[in-house]
Amino acid sequence: MTQIVRKIAELRILVRAWKAAGEVIGVVPTMGALHDGHLSLARAAKAECQRVIVTIFVNPKQFNNPDDLKQYPRTEEADAALLQTVGVDVIFTPVPDEVYPAGFTSTVSVGGVSEPLEGRMRPGHFDGVATVVTKLFGMTMADRGYFGQKDWQQLQVVLRLVRDLNLPITIVGCETIRETDGLAMSSRNNRLTPEGRAIAGVLYVAITAAAEDIRAGQSDRMAIREAAEKLRHAGFDRVEYIELRDAETLMPSDDPQRPRRMLAAAWLDGVRLIDNIPV
Ligand code: PAF
Repeated sequence: MTQIVRKIAELRILVRAWKAAGEVIGVVPTMGALHDGHLSLARAAKAECQRVIVTIFVNPKQFNNPDDLKQYPRTEEADAALLQTVGVDVIFTPVPDEVYPAGFTSTVSVGGVSEPLEGRMRPGHFDGVATVVTKLFGMTMADRGYFGQKDWQQLQVVLRLVRDLNLPITIVGCETIRETDGLAMSSRNNRLTPEGRAIAGVLYVAITAAAEDIRAGQSDRMAIREAAEKLRHAGFDRVEYIELRDAETLMPSDDPQRPRRMLAAAWLDGVRLIDNIPV
């Protein structure tokens, strides 16, 4: 039976009992509006941990655009029903006042990896993510934390954060879950019109083709230019970036000996879609 917990003190009582019994605790941090991508994280946690907590908290500090925060879907009942099917132990949905009580002034800021790409396009976003993730790790006292590779840069920020601050948690990065046309699952996909949804899969198709061309010897620049052209031709409104980066540092990389990642952000129907793949 999945329990819904709203208070930190109540969560701590459960977690302390689990720890005393020697149980391994997994946490899946989310902002709700759950889809199969989130459920795959919860399932991965269930497979490896005796206890699983899924947190649902729409974190105001990571939204640099107030409209985006207002529009973010809140679907608590449907989320709870889905998590019940996976058999998670606790859904932790703290209230904003408990997470950020009056007088809260601390920020966790991860340098380097959080600066380019999403960091440049969404100033303050990763400070908000790093701050809330640090707090959620502290509240849940989890041994393992599950994050999707869909937000590749976020995953690298969290890995760096855990290393830099010696947080006693192991981070697990899980495969991106995709629709049949390749579109990475995201809570934002629901905002696409039917016409937009019909072409959204081109983002994955275009970067996949570019990655194949680079592996086959085409220049990075040419392959990326062609991918951007495909998106514009398909009907995307704007390509924010398509970049080939070092997979860990997110710095520009022309060293094929190092793991590299192609990351992209593009606008369609007023919705910002992001994706990434290994190269
Ligand atoms: O990926 C998300 O949904 C959020 O950034 C996270 C990790 C739950 C922090 O609010």
